[in-house]
Amino acid sequence: MADNATKPLRIAIAGLGTVGAGVIRLLDTNGALIAARAGRAIEVVAVSARDRGKDRGVDIARFAWEDDMIALARRDDVDVVVELVGGSDGPALALSRAALSGGKGLVTANKAMIAHHGLELAEMAEAANAALKFEAAVAGGIPVIKGLREGTSANVITKVYGILNGTCNYILSEMEATGADFAAVLAEAQRLGYAEADPAFDIEGVDAGQKLSILAAIGFGTRIDFPGVRISGITAVRAADIAQADALGFVIRLIGEADVEETSQGPRLLQRVRPCLVAKGHPLSAVDGPTNAVVAEGNFSGRLLFQGPGAGDGPTASAVAADLIDIARDEVGAPFSIPVANLAALPPAEPGHRTERTYLRFMVKDRPGVLAELTAAMRDGDVSIESLIQQGRSSGGGEVMVAMVTHEGREANVTRALGLLEGSGSLTAAPLVLPILPR
Ligand code: NAP
Ligand code: HSE
Repeated sequence: MADNATKPLRIAIAGLGTVGAGVIRLLDTNGALIAARAGRAIEVVAVSARDRGKDRGVDIARFAWEDDMIALARRDDVDVVVELVGGSDGPALALSRAALSGGKGLVTANKAMIAHHGLELAEMAEAANAALKFEAAVAGGIPVIKGLREGTSANVITKVYGILNGTCNYILSEMEATGADFAAVLAEAQRLGYAEADPAFDIEGVDAGQKLSILAAIGFGTRIDFPGVRISGITAVRAADIAQADALGFVIRLIGEADVEETSQGPRLLQRVRPCLVAKGHPLSAVDGPTNAVVAEGNFSGRLLFQGPGAGDGPTASAVAADLIDIARDEVGAPFSIPVANLAALPPAEPGHRTERTYLRFMVKDRPGVLAELTAAMRDGDVSIESLIQQGRSSGGGEVMVAMVTHEGREANVTRALGLLEGSGSLTAAPLVLPILPR
């Protein structure tokens, strides 16, 4: 410990894309300040990526280069490996296992890997008394892992929810503000470095689900259960839904929510990611662009809101560097706050009995009797309609949009009503179901 204070923390970085190059830029720019705060310098020793010759906007010629990134974990001159490659398995996982099994610290921004293999990696870290840190894996630059692991650690966390994917939030808020087309805004999010290498992970809600599973584990002291997250993304949301939501006084946001429900069979873990209608005036309605916002409710702290840039090179590099500073200060601790052996394994909750208001959108054939068919299904499913809007005929004829807002009622009733419409020849597309976020 004592001689650590005199030695730099020597790191190796695998992955020199948006985040990796951002970390090098940050360490170059703020190196002196970081050394003062960490008590010692943080020094990049070696790097690896696919293409050694690529211009990354930062000078990498001063670092040792490894063609095979696993070699970074075997170097005697490296204390901590920083994994910024991505992917739940493959080279990122092999490198992470090699680093921890060799007793080196590991810092990663890889939520996919943590969601799938975080418990195994945490067990390896605990066994080796090595650091495993992943602040950048959830909500970019927002210190929400630190907030839950440290700031709220004296509380029972009853609920965690919020906006966890910068790309989706950017797409939805840009479509809302400019009327731009989904594909064009997604391309811009990719250009700006917000999206995953495969943006399907963003727009289908998987990335937000991975982050939610990590937050739930830390917040509730439960084992990560990514397969237990119920996920629907934003691909079915149309510009017409955004316009309709606006007319009703709402915006659409992709929301992740998790809580622990006490049932007669014991506690159950609810985790889900869904596009929701958020009333204008609700704090989450004003979260625009790649911004993320996480709400955590603690039994003594009350409701806490963590908000800030959720994607991009600078914010993500900031979170990676904060983890490195913690390690330089010898602040290690259990990666999930509680040792893995003591995390609770909770079965998933069934939310059908929960109540909410819902926006339902149907694309239907423009012919007599269709509206009666929809409302009959709602009646038979015991769903009470608060308002119903049928858009005027489109000039091409043939298809019209019918939007409904329901009164508060059981989720299972909406599922039952939609089941009654399954296979109906009147529908031209699958109905869209968007819950209305309570205030
Ligand atoms: P990226 O720009 O695509 O960079 C990935 C880097 O990994 C590239 O340098 C690439 O090398 C290297 N790489 C990929 N496959 C490799 C392989 N098989 N062998 C060797 N190197 C390989 O990705 P990123 O946006 O920086 O994201 C990195 C990680 O951070 C991911 O886990 C992501 O989920 C996470 N993250 C990203 C953000 C964000 O806003 N971008 C925010 C939070 C977390 P080449 O450059 O030579 O091709
Ligand atoms: N693709 C992710 C997002 C990056 O858009 O939120 C940050 O984790």
